[in-house]
Amino acid sequence: MTTPIIEARGLTHIYSVRSGLIGRARPLRALHDVSLSIGEGEILGVVGESGCGKSTLARILLGLETPTAGEVLLEGRPIASYPRRERALAVQPVFQDPYGSLNPSMSVEDLIALPLHIHSIGPKHERQQKVARIADQVGLPRRALAANPSQLSGGQRQRVAIARALVAGPRLVICDEPTSALDVSVQAQILNLLLDLRAEHRIAMLFISHNLSVIEYMTDRMMVMYLGRVVESGSTKETFAAPSHPYTAVLKEAVFTPDDENGVPDLGLRGNFPNAMDIPSGCVFHPRCPVARAECATIYPTLERHGASDHRSACLFPLNAPEGVRHDTPAEASPSA
Ligand SMILES: Nc1ncnc2c1ncn2[C@@H]1O[C@H](COP(=O)(O)OP(=O)(O)OP(=O)(O)O)[C@@H](O)[C@H]1O
Ligand SMILES: [Mg+2]
Repeated sequence: MTTPIIEARGLTHIYSVRSGLIGRARPLRALHDVSLSIGEGEILGVVGESGCGKSTLARILLGLETPTAGEVLLEGRPIASYPRRERALAVQPVFQDPYGSLNPSMSVEDLIALPLHIHSIGPKHERQQKVARIADQVGLPRRALAANPSQLSGGQRQRVAIARALVAGPRLVICDEPTSALDVSVQAQILNLLLDLRAEHRIAMLFISHNLSVIEYMTDRMMVMYLGRVVESGSTKETFAAPSHPYTAVLKEAVFTPDDENGVPDLGLRGNFPNAMDIPSGCVFHPRCPVARAECATIYPTLERHGASDHRSACLFPLNAPEGVRHDTPAEASPSA
């Protein structure tokens, strides 16, 4: 079996949160036992409501944050063992707000060339050629190279951020809501650009979005997260055709009433919005679950495989499955945060 580009095993991340100046620090479990792997040229999607841990996961995979428990292997080697520069060459981010990460006083050409400069890749004329080539590939007109970011539109700025992420040939690109700040028409262009670049460069991608229809369009496999846990994972096609976790089914329903202006639409769920400081007992989704039964309040469901495929979900009573899917691990109490 070929080594995945990136593999994460059992990632748990706990922040320490203090309320007020003299308040006691309390643990906030942002991730709980999250595992994943992404192969060459593959796009793995991560979807879930605000605060479910998507960006925490992204930062850990970028090596910017050290997990409380678990490990990340980049091409088979622990990411923590990589020198910072080597890691940055291999894994590059594309964030939601390119303006925040593009120095406004630099020209677009210098911004795109920055990774080549930092890593001393090639002589100057070669760098210029690389920048021109990647600018063409991301659809930036040559005249934009002399401009600075404030002279560009939001879509063009995101093209600059993508060009910069790709110019030094990374193995993995982590896109954290890369189009959420863009107009809908521009969003589609950027999504198609990312798909073209994946096909051309065979890069692996982690693609984060709160919008399930974007995940459906962009990804080969997907993970649905809720309160720091993966509640469902599998091929995007299969997960969409027959969601197994009730939360995925609710997200899928909400796709038909998207509200991009205000982020995630109202999912129409009972109960309070999830709070990572106060994680429910049993299944963490049970207080909002439309089909919860009494057991769900006490038994913590583990992520289990359905049938022969790699489709898994963490639900005692999964949808679209024969009654009584086996939970190999004995029921355990939900770990408190
Ligand atoms: N630096 C931090 N210190 C303390 N708590 C944090 C920190 N960063 C994130 N959190 C908390 O961790 C949880 C997960 O946050 P995270 O930003 O990973 O979620 P997200 O899924 O990316 O949300 P969004 O969709 O809003 O971007 C949240 O409860 C958040 O408040
Ligand atoms: Mg986020």
